[in-house]
Amino acid sequence: MGKNHQMRGVNTRLAHAGNDPRDFHGFVNPPVVHASTVLFPDAAAMAARSQKYTYGTRGTPTTDALGAAVDALEGSAGTIAVPSGLAAVCVPLLGFLSAGDHVLIVDSVYHPTRRFADTMLERLGVEVEYYDPAVGADIAGLIRDNTKVVFTESPGSNTFEMQDIPAISAAAHAAGAVVMMDNTWATPLYFRPLDFGVDISIHAATKYPAGHSDILLGTVSANEACWERLYDAYLTMGVCAGPDDVYQVLRGLRTMGVRLERHQQSALHLARWLEGRAGVAQVLHPALPSHPGHAIWKRDFSGASGIFSIVLDGGGQAQAHAFLDALEIFGLGYSWGGFESLAVHVQLDDRTVAKGPEAGPVIRLQIGLEDVDDLQADIEKGLAAAAR
Ligand SMILES: Cc1ncc(COP(=O)(O)O)c(C=O)c1O
Repeated sequence: MGKNHQMRGVNTRLAHAGNDPRDFHGFVNPPVVHASTVLFPDAAAMAARSQKYTYGTRGTPTTDALGAAVDALEGSAGTIAVPSGLAAVCVPLLGFLSAGDHVLIVDSVYHPTRRFADTMLERLGVEVEYYDPAVGADIAGLIRDNTKVVFTESPGSNTFEMQDIPAISAAAHAAGAVVMMDNTWATPLYFRPLDFGVDISIHAATKYPAGHSDILLGTVSANEACWERLYDAYLTMGVCAGPDDVYQVLRGLRTMGVRLERHQQSALHLARWLEGRAGVAQVLHPALPSHPGHAIWKRDFSGASGIFSIVLDGGGQAQAHAFLDALEIFGLGYSWGGFESLAVHVQLDDRTVAKGPEAGPVIRLQIGLEDVDDLQADIEKGLAAAAR
């Protein structure tokens, strides 16, 4: 896209990043290369592997296009594409941790990340410790001689706690630890982790990049210092994503900016409307001034995506289920980032440090692209049912 592309607006970059149409006969989109075998012209080239592509697991023009597009957005040295967002969490952790190492993981982390740490990492001899998302620079007091990774996710899953990423990164780097961040909520459009000291940025591209609730994919992007080791872990494990899914995520990126603007606008409208409403004890959305992490969000992030939670004012599972069962537009489903609205009663009983709100059940709302008035009316039905 020319040497000035980093100066152009984000939607311009999203429309053109990744591939150059002139590399493939002028077709606007790159080819979807279905590949295992790649042929070499002669035995010497085969022995030396002296050509750009050598085997399907090691990259194709399709994966290169997505990797280059994500690198342009993240400011990273390299990006791998893996078959799910959860794989995007597990691969770097496996790549950077060994038996006897200690890892610090934020307590408000996505639950399957905790499950992976508590089962596989523990079984492989890694010491796992959870820390308070509000720890900030005090993380220095938790870092041990064998701490190799500090894992962050900001805002946190379901309750949206903000983390002071620059302070945490500075303390981790002073002790030689690598900082990883699950940045799925913000996407690189609203937060660029590597600019704030993070070494490895993780995305469930299943969510906003794919955007249509039909693809599972993860991306992991590393800075120069960590790229080689990340890429090596990826090759060693053979966890490459399928070409059709990679292509669909590249396609999703083209419209992600405009979709996110709409998600952001509708979610904020509903979050503001819900705040102070009868039946709602709290709205957990970092862009609201009432949120405990608002100052950090305002300092570091340039936008908010479309998922937040509400705490019902009293009650328990019966009220949460009444709310959910009254909804007609919101679907009851676990993912987010797609075009359609979803709701879920979240369970926070896995927390060890950052306990969840106690005023009532927590309902997470993924705000889709529907008309916001219709969504508001639907939530109104849920609140009325919960109050009955
Ligand atoms: C914060 C976060 N990270 C990672 C994932 C995992 O993504 P996937 O569903 O593609 O495995 C999710 C999925 O909900 C998530 O919410």
